[in-house]
Amino acid sequence: MTLRPDFIWGVSTASIQIEGGSNPSERALSNWDIFCETHGKVYDGHNALISSDHFHHLEEDVAIIKQLGVKAYRFSVSWPRILPDGTGTPNPEGIAFYNRLIDDLLLNGIEPYLTVYHWDLPYPLHQKGGWLNPEIPNWMEEYARVVVDAFSDRVSNWITINEPQCFINESYCNGVHAPGYNVSNRELAQAVHNALMAHGKIVQVIRQSAKLPAKISYAQATPLSSTPNSDADIEVARKRQFSLPQAFAGSGVIYSDPIFLGQYPAEYLSKYESILPRFGQNDMQLISQPIDYFGINLYFGDKIATDKNNEPVVLSNKPGFAKTAFGWPVNPECMYWANKFCYERYGVPMLITENGMSGNDWVHLDGHVHDHDRIDFIHRYLLQMERAIQEGVDIRGYFHWSLMDNFEWARGYSERFGIVHVDFQTGKRTIKDSAFAYSEIIRRNTACL
Ligand code: GCO
Repeated sequence: MTLRPDFIWGVSTASIQIEGGSNPSERALSNWDIFCETHGKVYDGHNALISSDHFHHLEEDVAIIKQLGVKAYRFSVSWPRILPDGTGTPNPEGIAFYNRLIDDLLLNGIEPYLTVYHWDLPYPLHQKGGWLNPEIPNWMEEYARVVVDAFSDRVSNWITINEPQCFINESYCNGVHAPGYNVSNRELAQAVHNALMAHGKIVQVIRQSAKLPAKISYAQATPLSSTPNSDADIEVARKRQFSLPQAFAGSGVIYSDPIFLGQYPAEYLSKYESILPRFGQNDMQLISQPIDYFGINLYFGDKIATDKNNEPVVLSNKPGFAKTAFGWPVNPECMYWANKFCYERYGVPMLITENGMSGNDWVHLDGHVHDHDRIDFIHRYLLQMERAIQEGVDIRGYFHWSLMDNFEWARGYSERFGIVHVDFQTGKRTIKDSAFAYSEIIRRNTACL
């Protein structure tokens, strides 16, 4: 099928994963810098001080986006680069860096999509408790105000926070992301609420002060999804998608229900009643202010079937199931089901704000990167996206994760997610075959082969 003519084809990145530029005058310390300095936390002791060195390759990177015909660029702004202390005096050099980026994007006809918070927290705010401190929505409000004042004369597309499931659950429960904590459920419930309040504050600041008319999204990793293969499975799969797992802060529904439905799920309220924080009277009003898009970051989901005894079997755990270099199952149907279920529940237009895979990519003898597995991955996932659209799911855009190979959090540089290869020793960029294939999809405005 051919997609709507204004379908938004984009690529995504995040500040600390690509930027570098971390001399103290350029960017202050973040929670992730300190995490990288902690023994055993990040793969082989990697850090994000240089990353993909986008700080020194900005024009080259924008030129690549343009060359590929990609229409939109989703990037995030680094809080410690803008406000070294987290609050207080902004760093003019930090603002100048993003001005350069935004101006260059616009000059090249590329629409900026700005994520306000993608996990790099100023270290001084971490020292004050970070996401556990109920003051953080106010700190976020101050930061958002600086960002909106500085960039909203040219930026009209905003993503508030990226994946609270990760920066709350992976960070404060599983301990695999900065700051590596494993706190009590009571503290986690407070952190969840803080994240939602911070989202609400960002929406409020944008609505109050943006100079251009604003379109706002919130981005969330897909709730766990299964793949129904019979009518009987569909109800089970839908239920599974919106029920709470053991680690509740890792579920999508406790964030997306408050944001889009104005209430926490009943299961959460009853199960955790005794440990929930005291909610303010107007909290839900702030959290659930109407926004324009639900941003879905979608990589994989379990593939489930029922056996002859009607018991669920997780096919994606079986030997030989296709996996990416990260070990994530290749299950394109989750693109169809997750979007369908989320659209049914929330009825808000959707953007795929991330989708992609890590591959064992290297520069071949002929100087190119022949990442055919990624080309196949993109086609398969996009065909399922088109299937959902065909059935009425209102998906307005797709952003591939990622423009370039980058710092993959606790996995350091061991996972390559880019459609552009980066030599982390020299900063050299090599456009992978998948980038050219993606460019052709954009040109034809369809994933059909
Ligand atoms: C996330 C983040 C990205 C990741 C990507 C691959 O979804 O975890 O938004 O920063 O790098 O998803 O893991």
